[in-house]
Amino acid sequence: MNLTAKIGELELATPVIGASGLFGYGDEYEGLLDYASMGAIITKTITLEARAGNPPPRVVDVGSGIINSIGLENIGLEAFLKDRLPRLDIPCNLFVSIGGAKVDEYRRLAARLDGIASVSAVEVNISCPNVEEGGMAFGSDPESTRKVIKGVKDETGHAVLAKVPPIIWGLEDVCGAAIEAGADALTVANTYPAISIDPESAGPVLGAVTGGLSGGAIKPISLLLVWRAAAAFDIPVVGVGGIERPEDAIEFILAGASAFQVGSAMLKDYKAPSRIVEGIGRYMEKKGYKSLDDFRGKAAG
Ligand SMILES: Cc1cc2nc3c(=O)[nH]c(=O)nc-3n(C[C@H](O)[C@H](O)[C@H](O)COP(=O)(O)O)c2cc1C
Repeated sequence: MNLTAKIGELELATPVIGASGLFGYGDEYEGLLDYASMGAIITKTITLEARAGNPPPRVVDVGSGIINSIGLENIGLEAFLKDRLPRLDIPCNLFVSIGGAKVDEYRRLAARLDGIASVSAVEVNISCPNVEEGGMAFGSDPESTRKVIKGVKDETGHAVLAKVPPIIWGLEDVCGAAIEAGADALTVANTYPAISIDPESAGPVLGAVTGGLSGGAIKPISLLLVWRAAAAFDIPVVGVGGIERPEDAIEFILAGASAFQVGSAMLKDYKAPSRIVEGIGRYMEKKGYKSLDDFRGKAAG
């Protein structure tokens, strides 16, 4: 049985990808995670300069999912290149997630990562709801999306994934702009702006007041967005949002996803990726499918 997935020219051993923000800089799960079951791991979003992130509390469990407001805390590009990347030794692809407040920052990040052999692709985060500048503002506007993705493509030979925000109205405009600018794949989608209020204090739970909702609660909506993006465009769509069980991942593939990411599920079970891959294998065996192509997009719109 063939579980390989393709994102443009890139071949992944399996369709499961570690979502940005849940896998640190790539090797944090060493000794716990079966890295060989992963098609790729995506780093925490890296910015040019180190960022301290938002004030605590930064994560709240809301039952059906979690809201986070990390605020892109990261060590910055140069520390990543000097201290983390050289000692990374994982048996799967590494994608680097990049973020910035200005088009030029994305350009400079892409240029610095270009040509590094241990990096297989760049995921452009134009969809973070937890920062004041850039972030979601870029990905909600087709023109800014075009400028950011074009800037990145001009500077790198790596495959480029555009990670879009969960826009219900206008999704196709933003995805279309990313594709025109040269994106090799779409990652659909980031977290959903959300809030949690503490009845006792009558105030917001999170230090940054609002954050991004992820986990089971968002799965059917992200699935809808993936289904729409896959129907509208020919380039690979990487689905993300609430994937916890094999059945969730199968739904995304049936909707047209070429690969999918696992994020918040890691907080409950660090074996989720291999569990999901095994479950997909069982499903394919039961249905008589030989490869993901045999059922990808079967439920496409
Ligand atoms: C704690 C946390 C940190 C995250 N950090 C990032 C990040 O740095 N960059 C990014 O593009 N997405 C980030 N995300 C979003 C995830 O990559 C993913 O798009 C989202 O959580 C939906 O998938 P899930 O429901 O499987 O978690 C983060 C999510 C969580 C929960």
